[in-house]
Amino acid sequence: MNDGDFLSRLGVKFPIIQAPMGGVLSTPELVAAVCNAGGLGSLAAAYLKPDQILDEFRRTRALTDKPLNINLFAGGYEMKAVPDTRPMLSLLGEIHETLGLPAPVLPSLPPDPFPSQFEAVLEARPAIFSFTFGIPSPDAMKRLNQRGILAFGTATTVEEARLLEKAGVAAVVAQGAEAGAHRGTFLGSFESSMIPTLDLVRAIRLAVSVPVIASGGLMDGSDIARAFEIGASAAQLGTAFLTCPEAGTPNAYRRAILSASTDTTVITRAFSGRPARGLRNTFINKLQGKEDSILPYPLQNALTRPMRTAAAKADDASFLSLWAGQGVTRARPLPAAQLIDRLIFEMKEAGIAIK
Ligand SMILES: Cc1cc2nc3c(=O)[nH]c(=O)nc-3n(C[C@H](O)[C@H](O)[C@H](O)COP(=O)(O)O)c2cc1C
Repeated sequence: MNDGDFLSRLGVKFPIIQAPMGGVLSTPELVAAVCNAGGLGSLAAAYLKPDQILDEFRRTRALTDKPLNINLFAGGYEMKAVPDTRPMLSLLGEIHETLGLPAPVLPSLPPDPFPSQFEAVLEARPAIFSFTFGIPSPDAMKRLNQRGILAFGTATTVEEARLLEKAGVAAVVAQGAEAGAHRGTFLGSFESSMIPTLDLVRAIRLAVSVPVIASGGLMDGSDIARAFEIGASAAQLGTAFLTCPEAGTPNAYRRAILSASTDTTVITRAFSGRPARGLRNTFINKLQGKEDSILPYPLQNALTRPMRTAAAKADDASFLSLWAGQGVTRARPLPAAQLIDRLIFEMKEAGIAIK
C-alpha cells in the first residue's frame, strides 16, 4: 500500500497524527482542531470511565465530522507482588504536607478497566482505535474489524511489530526511544527496547507489510521528512502538540516545556511505576537512589495522582509529571491548525510530495 492509499483508507488529508495524550491533555478542542486542519486527532481514553469516553467522543463530534482516533492501554495492568509500601507512603507524606494535602493512603485498585472501556469505544465507533502496552484479544480485534474500525498498535521493537501485524492491525506505531511519556513496551525488557525512532522505523518497515507510523522526538517537518525517506507512512507527534492553546496542558507544565533549554528529559518510573520520558523535576530528584521504593504500575500511578492534581492546581511544576520527548526544546506555541500548516510546509520544503 502506498502512502496515498493509506491516507485515503483513513479518510485523512495529511499524514500527521496528534498523539493521544492521557489525562486532560488531548482535549476535544485539540482533537477537533487537528482533524479539521486535515490531520488525525486522537482522544486519550485510558484514564476515562466508559461514560466519560462516550461524552468526550460526543463533545469532539460536535466540533468535527472528520475521522478520529480513540486510544486505550491494552495491557500492563496486572498487579505484581507489592513491595513494602511504607517507604513510598512516608516519602509522599512529606510532599503531601507541603502541598496541604491529607496523608496519602494506599488506593484499592479496581479491576483492569480495559474491557468496559473497550465496549464504550465500540459504541462510539471511531474510524480508528489505537492502543499501547499490549495487544487486545483476538475476539476484541475481530469485533473492531466487524465494525469497520481500523486498529493501530504500538511497537517499541521489531518483534512487537510482527505480533501486531499477526493480530491484524491496519498500521504499526513505531515508538522510538526519544518519545515522550510511557514506553509502550510489552514483550522484552524496557531497557532493551530503547531503539532510536529512525532505526526502529527502518527495521519495522523491513519486517512487516502494514504501514508504519513514526513516533518519538519528531517536532518539525524536516524530522518527519527523514522518517518518510526511510519508509514511514505517517508521523505521530505528542510533545509538539502539548503547547497548542487547545491542549489541556496545565500552565506550569506548558511553561516548563517552553523554557526547557537543553536535553533535560529522563526516563523515570517515579510517577507511575512504568518507565516514561519527561522533564526532570523535584519529584524525580527526590526518588533518585530510592527506586526500590517505587510501587509497580498501576499502583504507583494511582498513589501519586492526588499529588499531581494538587500540583497542577497550585501551578507548581515540581510535583507534576512533565511528560515530554527529546525534541522538547523545539516545541512551538502555535494553534493546532497553524502547527499542521507549518509541518506540511516544512515537509514540502524537505522534498516530500504532499497534495
Ligand atoms: C503527555 C503525553 C501523554 C501520552 N499519552 C499516551 C497515551 O495515552 N496513549 C498512547 O498510546 N501514547 C501516549 N503518548 C505517547 C505518544 O503516543 C507518542 O508515542 C509520543 O508522544 C511520541 O513522542 P514525542 O512526544 O516526542 O512526539 C503520550 C505522550 C505524551 C507526550
